[in-house]
Amino acid sequence: MDNRIDVLREEIKQKLSSVGDLAELDKLRVGYLGKKGSITALLKGMKDLTNEERKTFGAEVNKLKANAAELIDKKVEELNRKAIEAEINLMPVFDVTTPPELTRGSYHPVTLSQRQCEAVFKSMGFTVEDYAEVVTDYECFEAVNIPKHHPARDMQDTYYLENGQLLKTQTSAAQNAILRKYGKNLTENGVPIKAIFPGRCFRNEATDANHENTFFQMEGMMVDKDISISNLIFFMKTMLSEVFQRDVKVRLRPGFFPFVEPGFELDINCLICGGEGCPSCKHSGWLELCPCGMIHPNVLREGGIDPEAYTGFAFGLGLTRLAMMKYKVKDIRDFNSGSLKALSQFTDDE
Ligand code: FA5
Repeated sequence: MDNRIDVLREEIKQKLSSVGDLAELDKLRVGYLGKKGSITALLKGMKDLTNEERKTFGAEVNKLKANAAELIDKKVEELNRKAIEAEINLMPVFDVTTPPELTRGSYHPVTLSQRQCEAVFKSMGFTVEDYAEVVTDYECFEAVNIPKHHPARDMQDTYYLENGQLLKTQTSAAQNAILRKYGKNLTENGVPIKAIFPGRCFRNEATDANHENTFFQMEGMMVDKDISISNLIFFMKTMLSEVFQRDVKVRLRPGFFPFVEPGFELDINCLICGGEGCPSCKHSGWLELCPCGMIHPNVLREGGIDPEAYTGFAFGLGLTRLAMMKYKVKDIRDFNSGSLKALSQFTDDE
């Protein structure tokens, strides 16, 4: 086979590797593929060959031609991409979405409230746990004593996913994992379980001034020997007085949750209207804030803990509602509005 083809193939590869701009590349294209180009010249020279030679030689030259055209096209793409990247690198770096009047960002009021609560509980020896937002039916319901078809499921209109999992409706979904994680330390004179686990919850709710479909809760649990309702009330009181830095009126009334027995609703006197009644508290003067109770023996058992030997309390603080009360935000929907004007007022707390 005529080695001019191989020589040209190598030459094209080499020249393409050192081409730096589109003008140079165009010259190269004309030099090989143009009317007077070297590959075209090979084709023109075929008239002196025999029929048999012309057939094989012609096929090889056409292959070379197609290959050269493809390599050149790729090089065009590469040079164009590099040109765009170079242009981007020269641009000044700034966020076009930043409103001109804001010079620094601020923490979301729910984040601020979460951090305050975490600080209070950490100072009392609680660990802070993270947990998934997408959970199984078992974690969210069955493990906390809500079997399939239990009417209590109707209280939480759930977003189910096609794969059978669901968006966590309550932070109680982490209870089982945490009991299992720390339960083994509950030996005779061992380490009690003291954990809080804040998280985002989702419910398919009709929204109003104190209901959102996406909101935060902060669950807490304490399990040890001889834990009683007095311990529960002490921790609730301490948390509220530390977070609000003043006396707030609360009331405890019986409440039903399948994972606690007895169960309570802890309501806070509405700080927006001072208990007079307003849209934020649905004109009742009170806001449901932190249901709680003594952990049901079935829940302890499911978490691998002997309910005859240990008892515990659990609570499910409505963190977004706490932020409403703390920062006197009249409508819970403002929190998810993304309005920087509304949310940036709370910076001064950090
Ligand atoms: C629960 O979710 C229970 N898991 C709480 C619990 C934990 C009880 C441990 C006992 C022991 P509930 O559905 O009431 O309960 O929600 C708890 C709190 O979350 C409410 O008091 C409220 O403050 C807040 N909350 C509930 N739904 C919403 C909503 N749609 N928007 C804003 N906050 C909400």
